[in-house]
Amino acid sequence: MEKVVSGIRPTGNLHLGNYFGAVKSFVKMQDDYDCMFFIADWHSLTTHPKPENIQQSVRTILAEYMACGIDPQKAPIYVQSDVKETLELYLFLNMNAYLGELERVTTFKEKARKQPDNVNAGLLTYPTLMAADILQHRAAKVPVGKDQEQNMEMARKCARRFNHIYGVEFFPEPQNFYFSEKALKVPGLDGSGKMGKSEGNCIYLRDDDKTITKKVMKAVTDSGPQEPNSQKPEVIENLFTFLRIASTEDTYNYFDEKWNDCTLRYGDLKKQIAADLCSIVAPIRQRIEEYSANTELLDRIAREGADRARESASATLKEVRRIVGFRS
Ligand code: TYM
Repeated sequence: MEKVVSGIRPTGNLHLGNYFGAVKSFVKMQDDYDCMFFIADWHSLTTHPKPENIQQSVRTILAEYMACGIDPQKAPIYVQSDVKETLELYLFLNMNAYLGELERVTTFKEKARKQPDNVNAGLLTYPTLMAADILQHRAAKVPVGKDQEQNMEMARKCARRFNHIYGVEFFPEPQNFYFSEKALKVPGLDGSGKMGKSEGNCIYLRDDDKTITKKVMKAVTDSGPQEPNSQKPEVIENLFTFLRIASTEDTYNYFDEKWNDCTLRYGDLKKQIAADLCSIVAPIRQRIEEYSANTELLDRIAREGADRARESASATLKEVRRIVGFRS
């Protein structure tokens, strides 16, 4: 069975970008693939060197993952820092990763701009740690959102380069995976591009109906359609993206027709989006509360997940050491 791996940084609660961009695909894959999901606590140190309460943040994400429908029996969930094999592969990959290509990664440039006093080596080598996360399981597919495309390109480069340098066909080139026809960028509703923690524009899976509705009703719009069948401006296209991911096709078509014949009222569109999002989020929110209360269960799942991840990673590392020329 093909292997699938994906992860998330524990720097806040899960939001709709994480859910629709990655977690939902992952949940759908767990029956048909050999899946593993992890919480990237080492990665979060690149931006948060003194995490407030990392244990608690990890448990929070674990509860949220499970509430979204990840079944740890089918798809183990583990914490990145529990699997030390990752570090060894990170080292091997770093030896063949070049300063120029790492400096060109857009997320590195963005982060370096945002935190000029802390342009650390971890930030620069973020993509090789991510490649190690994936390649240590020799994963073939990685469900991620559009924002991770460049990191995925680096992971493929690491795989190709390793195979080339050592003359082997050892690592498969991991492919981005999404259920929609193309990579998904869940937009923010404030007209600022993507939904993200650092953008401060998130709808969280923990938000109650009232909060979700308030956030959607405040979404930025314009003065309304002016000409029949015109192209939608970005802020309106963003609202339609929510319809596409959260509502039925009929609902999408209904509002699309209203846009095309210039009878669309944004208030109605927002109400529909809010209602459809609430009906998706409400049951997840309820399960988050249930799982969060059961720390014993969460800790056991992380322990069992780590055992399975270590087993998979240590088999890979044994081969990697042999291929590079070390004792395996
Ligand atoms: P992170 O923690 O920023 O986000 C986790 C996942 O959510 C997706 N995502 C989005 N998708 C669509 N639209 C959005 N607005 C949006 N916001 C977030 C991300 O694409 C991601 O899939 N580097 C990763 C974590 C990571 C990882 C890995 C992922 C570390 N190692 C190995 C896959 C494989 C990150 O920072 O994701």
